[in-house]
Amino acid sequence: MTPGPDRRAALEQYRRRAAVYDLELALFEPLRREAVARLALQPGETVVDFGCGTGLSLPLLRAAVGATGHVVGIEQSPDMLAQARRRVARHGWRNVQLIGAPVESAHWSGRADAALFHFTHDLLQRPEAVAGALAHLKRGARIVATGLRWAPRWAAAVNVAVYVAARRSITTLDGLDRPWHLLERHLGPMQVESRLLGAVYLAAGTLS
Ligand SMILES: C[S@@+](CC[C@H](N)C(=O)[O-])C[C@H]1O[C@@H](n2cnc3c(N)ncnc32)[C@H](O)[C@@H]1O
Repeated sequence: MTPGPDRRAALEQYRRRAAVYDLELALFEPLRREAVARLALQPGETVVDFGCGTGLSLPLLRAAVGATGHVVGIEQSPDMLAQARRRVARHGWRNVQLIGAPVESAHWSGRADAALFHFTHDLLQRPEAVAGALAHLKRGARIVATGLRWAPRWAAAVNVAVYVAARRSITTLDGLDRPWHLLERHLGPMQVESRLLGAVYLAAGTLS
């Protein structure tokens, strides 16, 4: 673990994990459905999945915006993105676009109505990545972020599990007490809820 996010370590982490990632995330799938529902997507809208990984959220996002909407996934790990590309090809989606780049340097000229940051702790701890992501959104865009967080003191034992999961999925423990804090710099106070005994958060806000 490093004091800040470490891209090289993250790429290596996800190179090793890509093939088994979908199985490992099974426990968190109800939260994914909840996060996508909280985006309140409408048919025809555009949504960006920042740090889309293997594309596990793409079916839900695509279903919510429909054939007339647009889904964009941005992902820095070539190994994770390859899985996402296979998923898109398998479904034959024409309105799902995948961009292989760190969010902070990704080129996409559109503006989205909504954005998802599902378990993207490293990304959310980089000020330039958060600013770069929000630059792709329309004013009034809905934003939902989820992920691991330190549980409160009354559930301190849960933090053993948070630490074990963090070692496998993120490169810095920085910000784990309030992982959405950089988003709040831009959005103002977010609505934050806890799940799984406080080990996981769901934060929602609007870009004003
Ligand atoms: C735990 S995975 C989550 C993947 C996906 N969001 C999901 O819900 O399954 C975190 C992902 O964020 C990606 N990531 C981290 N920092 C990033 C950045 N700055 N730009 C783009 N992707 C990033 C990682 O490569 C990894 O695929």
